[in-house]
Amino acid sequence: MDIFVIQGPSRLKGRVEISGAKNAALPLMAASLLGEGPTTLCRVPDLADIRTMLELLGELGVAAAREQDGTVTLTPADADCSHARYDIVRKMRASVCVLGPLLARRGQARVSMPGGCAIGARPIDLHLRGLQALGAQIDLDQGDIVARAKRLRGATVFLGGPFGSTVLGTANVMMAAVLAEGRTVIESAACEPEIADLADLLNAMGAHVSGGGTPRLVIDGVDELTGADHEVIPDRIEAGTFLAAGALTNGELELSHCRIDHMLAVVEKLRETGAIVEPSNGGAVVAATRRVEPTDVTTQPYPGFPTDLQAQVMTLLALADGNSAVTEKIFPDRFMHVPELLRMGANIRKEGPTAIVTGVKRLVGAPVMASDLRASAALVLAGLIARGTTTVRRVYHVDRGYEHIERKLCDVGARIERLSE
Ligand code: EPU
Repeated sequence: MDIFVIQGPSRLKGRVEISGAKNAALPLMAASLLGEGPTTLCRVPDLADIRTMLELLGELGVAAAREQDGTVTLTPADADCSHARYDIVRKMRASVCVLGPLLARRGQARVSMPGGCAIGARPIDLHLRGLQALGAQIDLDQGDIVARAKRLRGATVFLGGPFGSTVLGTANVMMAAVLAEGRTVIESAACEPEIADLADLLNAMGAHVSGGGTPRLVIDGVDELTGADHEVIPDRIEAGTFLAAGALTNGELELSHCRIDHMLAVVEKLRETGAIVEPSNGGAVVAATRRVEPTDVTTQPYPGFPTDLQAQVMTLLALADGNSAVTEKIFPDRFMHVPELLRMGANIRKEGPTAIVTGVKRLVGAPVMASDLRASAALVLAGLIARGTTTVRRVYHVDRGYEHIERKLCDVGARIERLSE
């Protein structure tokens, strides 16, 4: 297993190119199951989760070709296997987004029921309720969801849950509805840019989806879809992580290939901490010159502050000149980074879904353990600013979602070495 050995503190300065978004690419890749011909996606990041999705699609009869520049061509070739096995789903929950396309295109799907994960319980009841509303028969057999439908029928589906809408649930129901008979209206749909991107690909494949990126999606089913060419949107979470890194290290970073309009809540919060964040040449610049100011952050569905940046911003606030409250409204247990940050000298007290962060003047290097993707990014950021050596174990979590993170950080002044343990 690889570890990162980080020497701090460092000040980041320079240019970083943001990769295509993992959380957009995964459902886009699943959508290739719906087409009659090849779907070509550009700017697909080279990540562990993407390789897992390629493996899954391979088992489902989709031939894949990946080029060095991140272009992936997916050609549905064989419809015999419609089983997403536990061995793959347990590695990556996002595997569940093949359920909708398999059901719509092949009339059946068997997908292992995903369990919880390090960020808490993650039910998929809304996905299943939505597919049932379209006429699917759903059973549970040996830990697998077994879904069947001769042809799905359009319906009005409400996807709101106790924590807001569901991103992958919206993707699943939308991908099922594009081949259903008649009109589907999804109310309380997720508004994340990754969902709007999926709607764009589906429309390029011949679907009739309107309202992508809003809480009301209207989908008029068609009989068949073709393949299409599509470019994956930039990763707003990777971009937000680099903005936080720039602010945290009193650095100066220019991010290219990033959509600041997808990150307005994040930009606003970083400005409240005293950082300067501005659009620049189709990207963004961040600069900071003084001690972080405290602020309160509450995670919310898009366009609110994303849960996937909560941990990284907590590292920033750990160095603020005062108290901040960080409240998690999407995954109330997503605080595995807190005990690790405490090992580095942070002062954080958890009260239910809120962490009270009392800023300290400095963090100190320590051996820490990554528990999940975003928590591990928060620990890498902490290592950049901490005095001395920080060793981050289990960096395979980081590798699931950040393309060449240590290379990108080292190019702008960080001192990180990847070693095999
Ligand atoms: N929920 C339900 N029932 C459902 C589905 C979700 O109650 O059927 C709840 C969840 O437990 C959670 C909330 O609704 O409290 C939102 O979950 P959502 O379904 O939106 O999450 P997801 O689609 O499984 C995606 C991202 C996550 C990101 C969340 C929230 C992908 C591949 N994953 O997950 O990304 O945190 O949306 O924005 O798109 C990450 O990249 O590190 C990551 C975890």
